[in-house]
Amino acid sequence: SATPVNVTVTGAAGQIGYALLFRIASGQMLGADTPVRLRLLEIPQGVKAAEGTAMELDDCAFPLLAGIDIHDEPRAAFDGVNVALLVGARPRGPGMERGDLLAANGGIFKPQGAAINAGAAYDVRVLVVGNPANTNALIAQAHAPDVPASRFTAMTRLDHNRALTQVAKKAGVPVADVRRLTIWGNHSATQYPDLFHADVAGRPGVELTEDRTWLEDDFIPTVAKRGAAIIDARGASSAASAANAAIDHVHDWVHGTPEGDWTSAGIVSDGSYGVPEGLISSFPVTSSGGDWEIVQGLEVGELSRVKIDASVAELVQERDAVRELGLLGG
Ligand code: NAI
Repeated sequence: SATPVNVTVTGAAGQIGYALLFRIASGQMLGADTPVRLRLLEIPQGVKAAEGTAMELDDCAFPLLAGIDIHDEPRAAFDGVNVALLVGARPRGPGMERGDLLAANGGIFKPQGAAINAGAAYDVRVLVVGNPANTNALIAQAHAPDVPASRFTAMTRLDHNRALTQVAKKAGVPVADVRRLTIWGNHSATQYPDLFHADVAGRPGVELTEDRTWLEDDFIPTVAKRGAAIIDARGASSAASAANAAIDHVHDWVHGTPEGDWTSAGIVSDGSYGVPEGLISSFPVTSSGGDWEIVQGLEVGELSRVKIDASVAELVQERDAVRELGLLGG
């Protein structure tokens, strides 16, 4: 039988962890032929709850689950890791300045990047979910110089999926008929959901953009502020939908995106579309053979240019702030 894939999940005892682990163990992320060994990383206070989740995973008797290890130390948790899902992060506390938030997360993602560098398998693929996801991914990547930078990604798939449903509802078509949407920039309220290149049940998405009021006052803010709306309604942040997006991201990274479509992911910029090289920014991406590739040659109109530039400017600010804090090394 196949060798199990080592999947490390940080923040395993958190909300997203709880929604994510069972789906990984059932085969929804890597496929029904791929056994997985789960490595759960938590802080010491989270270990007992992670043990409880591990008991429940055992109680599912998943045929693909080859084992579960629980760790409170990154070096052991990332030893031999093939797929790393970095979910645990430091949330913004009351009165916390942005600089404090970035510093606190640097304290998490710097040692995790170093541990990945030290022990990960040659084919390691990293998805950062914990916020601020793009900049946390940049910090981890900076401390893993021996791992190709392209292996560090940040999750904007939830934003992408949110946008798909908003468009499907507006157009009155099934969500499966909406293709080629793009989330650009940062996973934050400045993100830009772009439907100028979309295909909506065979019609050009640009038709929907003719309703500027809907586009600018409804669609864009609804997608960009959906996280806050969920917190408002549920009293807790998106968890099952975030876990679902993480499953989608890794699934498509490993298995490829469908012909004729693309998705969105935060990946290291090669300078495409005027996004400074080295930033981890969301792009329209396809995947084949296990590598993301930026969709090239899309025309960027005036509205898109302004919105992309604003989100990228925020990423530059975050990068400069963590660089000043010494979190990018060198
Ligand atoms: P949560 O607070 O329920 O769970 C976080 C878990 O991480 C806790 O169990 C905590 O003990 C653990 N943790 C903290 N520091 C850690 C460390 N150094 N190593 C290992 N584990 C550590 O939070 P939830 O709801 O699961 O969300 C996790 C993160 O995902 C948050 O940062 C949230 O903002 C982010 N998020 C990102 C989304 C995206 O689209 N990129 C969507 C939704 C949430």
